[in-house]
Amino acid sequence: MVEVFFIGAHLFSENCSGSDGLQKGLMPSVSNAGAVFVTLYLGEGYIAAMRLAKFIGKQAASPSGLFGQFLMTRILNRVNVNMNRFALDRADLSASDYLLELGCGGGGLAKRALTKSDCGYVMGIDTSVASIKHCNRRLRRSVHAQRACFELAQAEQLPIADASYTCVISSSTVYFFTDLKQVLLECQRVLKSDGKMVLCFNDASWLQRQSFARQGFRSYEVVAIESLLESIGFENISTEQRQDALQGLIHCTIASRS
Ligand SMILES: C[S@@+](CC[C@H](N)C(=O)[O-])C[C@H]1O[C@@H](n2cnc3c(N)ncnc32)[C@H](O)[C@@H]1O
Repeated sequence: MVEVFFIGAHLFSENCSGSDGLQKGLMPSVSNAGAVFVTLYLGEGYIAAMRLAKFIGKQAASPSGLFGQFLMTRILNRVNVNMNRFALDRADLSASDYLLELGCGGGGLAKRALTKSDCGYVMGIDTSVASIKHCNRRLRRSVHAQRACFELAQAEQLPIADASYTCVISSSTVYFFTDLKQVLLECQRVLKSDGKMVLCFNDASWLQRQSFARQGFRSYEVVAIESLLESIGFENISTEQRQDALQGLIHCTIASRS
């Protein structure tokens, strides 16, 4: 789109310059007028697309307002369905598991963990009020049955006792953490011995090509995630990949707490 905009602008300036440029400039031909119209039309379209990408990027980083609570949360569940499945497949949960999800968004992963994976208990934390309201409403039966709980909290500072969870999952959230090392240290603290850490994330090169991700998303290479986990003391680190029709290559790194 940007290229078309510049080509249009270039054609217009070419047609209005040269030896008889003044005459052409003063009396633009029909083709010149068409080029101007197309250029302006595409330019407007480009600006609108950029505004939309910026809005979606901000909502993905933190769903907010009524749009966040009722629409973005549902969009996240649809868009991240394969990533969430991948994370849960690798987590391999059972009824004896206590799962903590960092950035529970629309609650898609939490719901699947409770229904399909038969996980014993799920706690979801998120920095977005809209997300927590949505999850509490969507999974109210599990919340009432004390099988689930959703709280407003930051992954960098978990309001959770030491060694209380058997698994921590972060699916499509690493890009938003202000300090990934601090988050992983917190996960290590709240995980029981042998507990599992699962991190699912987009390929860095795919993410860097997305206009919505220009809103402060931090992309990570697999080696960076793996070495960070290793430096903190996690063990049995391994990464697998899957191809997603919408999001391209997806990585899922798992590690266990010593
Ligand atoms: C792209 S959404 C992913 C949601 C969900 N995990 C999924 O896969 O659909 C990222 C979520 O992380 C939350 N988030 C961003 N920064 C966070 C942080 N520092 N701690 C906890 N949650 C955070 C956002 O509010 C948002 O709901």
